[in-house]
Amino acid sequence: MNISRDEIKLAGDLSGTDKVTHHGYERFYSDFLNRSKICNQILEIGYGEGQSIKFWKRIFPNSFLNILDLDKSEIGSGFQVFKCDQSSLKDLKKIEKELESKSIDLIIDDGSHIPEHIILTFNLFFKSLLNENCTYIIEDIETSYWTNSECYGYPTNYGIDSKNSIVNSFFVLNHWLNKEFLREKQKNKLENKIKSLGFNIETVNSIRSITFGHNCICINKNSKDDLKYLDRDYRFKLKLNRFININMFKTKRLKTFLNKLKIYNSRKKE
Ligand SMILES: C[S@@+](CC[C@H](N)C(=O)[O-])C[C@H]1O[C@@H](n2cnc3c(N)ncnc32)[C@H](O)[C@@H]1O
Repeated sequence: MNISRDEIKLAGDLSGTDKVTHHGYERFYSDFLNRSKICNQILEIGYGEGQSIKFWKRIFPNSFLNILDLDKSEIGSGFQVFKCDQSSLKDLKKIEKELESKSIDLIIDDGSHIPEHIILTFNLFFKSLLNENCTYIIEDIETSYWTNSECYGYPTNYGIDSKNSIVNSFFVLNHWLNKEFLREKQKNKLENKIKSLGFNIETVNSIRSITFGHNCICINKNSKDDLKYLDRDYRFKLKLNRFININMFKTKRLKTFLNKLKIYNSRKKE
């Protein structure tokens, strides 16, 4: 059963986290948070003032919160804070090892908000720590619109047209979700583009869906059931042909014109 907006809003108001008081993330999280699914372990990058521990505990009282932050290490009732710099692959791998035996049902990246760090973290944690059918949330993607600023001391020179904007990077992945409908050449080109953005292709292959919301991205992980849809021959493969199908044109005049342009001939060559 999904958790209602009202319930999430109340947990946010009581804990004081800006997830609700400022961002209104209950508008999206009510679609993804499911009481029967999340009963075990939650991982959040970014401690802040610790309000989100109270927030998640209120929604999932039996869960254990694993929190990562730059310079904090603490063990409390139902939570543990690990020291980890998400810009460091070494730190991330260490945490990956430490948490690998846990069965994580929800991951929230509310850390540095730097696209390069977000992708580095996503590559590892989405693939190896998150359970099947579960959700990975990236919060506060607004920094990808910052053109000449900083966040936690890191420069943020992005903007709507920036290749490295986290919104643009994840948007490219939408085409990968639909790779069944791409020609081989297009698929190879897209794969190279995705790799050049810093993504691990195996991680990307375990994405079921990507939802963009106001200031957040929610990514769902696929399961074995999805595999049968992922590696098969496209049933309308011929419709992906690069050349114009002359029968599309109803009038004789147009057909003759296209014939003159030798569209048929170029099709035969291919
Ligand atoms: C927005 S706050 C987290 C707020 C908290 N999740 C909440 O909802 O109450 C962001 C946190 O990310 C941490 N942070 C910044 N850069 C980081 C990095 N490279 N690795 C890990 N944590 C980082 C900051 O120290 C800060 O505590």
